[in-house]
Amino acid sequence: MNTIEKYKKYVNTSMLAKVEPVVISKAKGAVVTDVDGKNYIDCFAGIAVVNAGHCNEKVIEAAKAQMDNLIHCCSYVYYAQPTADLAEKLAEIAPGRLQKSFFGNGGAEAIEGALRLAKTFTGKTEFIALQASFHGRSYATLSITGNNARKKRGGPYMAGCTFLPAPYCYRCFFELEYPKCHLRCARALEDIIHFNTYDSVAAFIAEPLLGEGGIITPPDDYFLEIEKILKKHGVLLIIDEVQTGFGRTGRMFGIEHYGVEPDIMTTAKGIADGFPLSAFTAREEIADSFKPGEHLSTFGGNPVSCAAALANIAYLKEGKLVEEAARKGEWLKAQLEELKKKQSRIGEVRGKGLMIGIELVNDRAARTPAIDEAKKARQFCLDQGLLIGLGGVFNNVLRIQPPLVISQQQLEEVVKILDLALGRV
Ligand SMILES: Cc1ncc(COP(=O)(O)O)c(C=O)c1O
Repeated sequence: MNTIEKYKKYVNTSMLAKVEPVVISKAKGAVVTDVDGKNYIDCFAGIAVVNAGHCNEKVIEAAKAQMDNLIHCCSYVYYAQPTADLAEKLAEIAPGRLQKSFFGNGGAEAIEGALRLAKTFTGKTEFIALQASFHGRSYATLSITGNNARKKRGGPYMAGCTFLPAPYCYRCFFELEYPKCHLRCARALEDIIHFNTYDSVAAFIAEPLLGEGGIITPPDDYFLEIEKILKKHGVLLIIDEVQTGFGRTGRMFGIEHYGVEPDIMTTAKGIADGFPLSAFTAREEIADSFKPGEHLSTFGGNPVSCAAALANIAYLKEGKLVEEAARKGEWLKAQLEELKKKQSRIGEVRGKGLMIGIELVNDRAARTPAIDEAKKARQFCLDQGLLIGLGGVFNNVLRIQPPLVISQQQLEEVVKILDLALGRV
């Protein structure tokens, strides 16, 4: 049996419409190679994970060195140096006063922990999240995910979760236009607290840019307005940087674009360039509100993953990859805006850094989502040797999220293939 046949028989993929028909055998930088030797430019990076590039030598070197010494001890039963060093590093690079980290293995686990911490610190029990958000596949994280496509047949969900319309200007819930709207969607938070809760809101949680929601990019002053309301009502701000963290948006963390300080921040994906690891990081007094027995993870803070994360962060910094992501992203967005002039399927190009969404529509005036066309465009790109993502609440947004090390030449090739693809659909 080959790999695809074994997947069919032994891997549970029934929750997927399909697995992309590529069997990847190796990857380097921004290129992945399949078992037949065909190369693809990777503009999805394993869902925005390998920011420092596939199989980064510095990351591998650090992980291998750690493996020779210690793979696992449970970093919460005994002390492990890479775990301590990484926590110190996160405190140094995280926004504001975020200082103490708890490590888990994946994004959902980090968010579960962050929610729990918000409850223990505030003594309150409710959460407000954004419509069109995505926070994971576990019970609590699905409960605060604002998209029923992800929640069908899994309910009822956790009590005490309510939703605020997303800052999705292209499809404004209030049918208003920025900036004339005076951030109606952010101001609605006050109404939500007033009318939709029992006045026990522990935290408001949001992604700086809504990745799975279709790279929805809030206006520059959005989080300042949100912060004002949260402060007034004594509600914590949890920022979910699982997808936006570690340089993806042209800043180390996406929230840095918005000038607000989170109370708790969650990270995963890009933290260790492909090694499984996640964290929630909080101000000291918030972090210390956990009492003995209230939280743990067997594999969390694994020494090998932490060593890889330290090398990853050093690589991002030394190679100025965060600044590079900003510069490359600006270039790519300008090229895509040019494409928009001739490709009528493009409704909007948006995003920051190398987290770019191209929302496809059938009719620019009516903004009808071009769902089949987006699927076909992705397939065409794959045939031409380009891997891209697909997302959005209607599944009509092409997602361009390459490793930050992607070269100028590769980016030029990406634009060429996207142009061809959009001309076909
Ligand atoms: C913003 C955000 N939060 C949480 C998650 C869940 O992360 P994981 O799949 O590692 O549990 C994702 C995954 O796509 C995400 O994009």
